[in-house]
Amino acid sequence: MDGQHLILVADFNPWNRYHLRNYLENELHYRVEESSTGSETLALALQKKPDLILLDSGLPDIKGYELAKQIKANNQIRTARILLMVPFGEKDKRLEALESGVDEIIIKPIEKLELLFRVETFIRIKYFYDQLLMEREKVQKMKEDFLSMITHDLKTPLTSIIGNIQLLLLNQQNQRDKDSLKTIDLASRNLLFLVNNLLNVMRIDSGIMPLTAEDFLVPRLIEEIFSMLQPLAQKKKINLKFSCGKGVAVHADLEKIRQVLINLISNAIKFSPEGESVQLSIKEEENRVIVQVIDHGPGISEEDKKRLFQKFSQKKGEKGGTGLGLYIAQKMIELHGSEIKIDSEQGRGATFWFSLSKGEKK
Ligand SMILES: Nc1ncnc2c1ncn2[C@@H]1O[C@H](COP(=O)(O)OP(=O)(O)OP(=O)(O)O)[C@@H](O)[C@H]1O
Ligand SMILES: [Mg+2]
Repeated sequence: MDGQHLILVADFNPWNRYHLRNYLENELHYRVEESSTGSETLALALQKKPDLILLDSGLPDIKGYELAKQIKANNQIRTARILLMVPFGEKDKRLEALESGVDEIIIKPIEKLELLFRVETFIRIKYFYDQLLMEREKVQKMKEDFLSMITHDLKTPLTSIIGNIQLLLLNQQNQRDKDSLKTIDLASRNLLFLVNNLLNVMRIDSGIMPLTAEDFLVPRLIEEIFSMLQPLAQKKKINLKFSCGKGVAVHADLEKIRQVLINLISNAIKFSPEGESVQLSIKEEENRVIVQVIDHGPGISEEDKKRLFQKFSQKKGEKGGTGLGLYIAQKMIELHGSEIKIDSEQGRGATFWFSLSKGEKK
């Protein structure tokens, strides 16, 4: 490997350091720094960020095993490889060394060729490891850029289109134009639904989905979702019904529960035959609130129940949709420490249900 790599030689004995430096600089052309105590090694490692530390197990202040643990626990230097130099009598301490975060031990007195091979191997490993980390950071950055692109360049304009269609619809007298506007409205809502789902999957997969729980009233949320999904239901002449005590409140993340309910209710509408009803039932039980979405569609077989929550999973022959809705809904409910369950037999409708913590009634 090239001479850019830095090796820190940590040994109390100046004579040992002299020889090690000599091998590494002259035979392998690496840059070398030296330290003689544990605390000096730690300070120098933090300052110079070496690729490899050739660490003596018997430094006077901090023993090699302990020092290795400290290095591996420090985010700034934890990727440095560590070769621990141990006296012949400690050669059985491999397991202890491994547990401390040491990559390999090398027995003293050090045999030159063995040292050179080991160093070269671990410098290579460090090089590829760094490359991998850099690639991972690049991919992460691309994901974040893509997320903000979707949010700003797709979601924001779509929301504004939908808002303006509502205004136009209010003032429109001509029935043909009204129908056209309604078609545009439905298509835009479907697009917004898809964009939101994509955005959520990327957030879930990147592990950036924090929970912000608050107390809120369930009926108010359902009314809002029903009015949003009304155009979809109307198109299939589906009657949306809900039964819920007036002041039922939950302690949950409002935005996520909104998305879960949109996903479950839009599925119920989508998979129900024309003219059927879809019902939302909310029941209080001790300190939990049970939310059920009930439909009279084709139902779900035992086999399908197990896999429909997986990403991109749909029943055989399903047309349209992406198979992301249930995956997202399940992940969001799991964040609340709960789970979505299905009660259904094939051909007899389906009930998707979950429970949430009761909230304070406002
Ligand atoms: N209420 C339901 N009744 C019958 N089958 C259902 C119901 N809800 C979901 N499914 C089945 O589960 C599959 C997965 O649902 P999911 O919501 O994840 O995806 P989708 O609705 O097909 O697409 P997307 O939600 O991404 O638009 C559906 O394709 C359908 O086969
Ligand atoms: Mg769906």
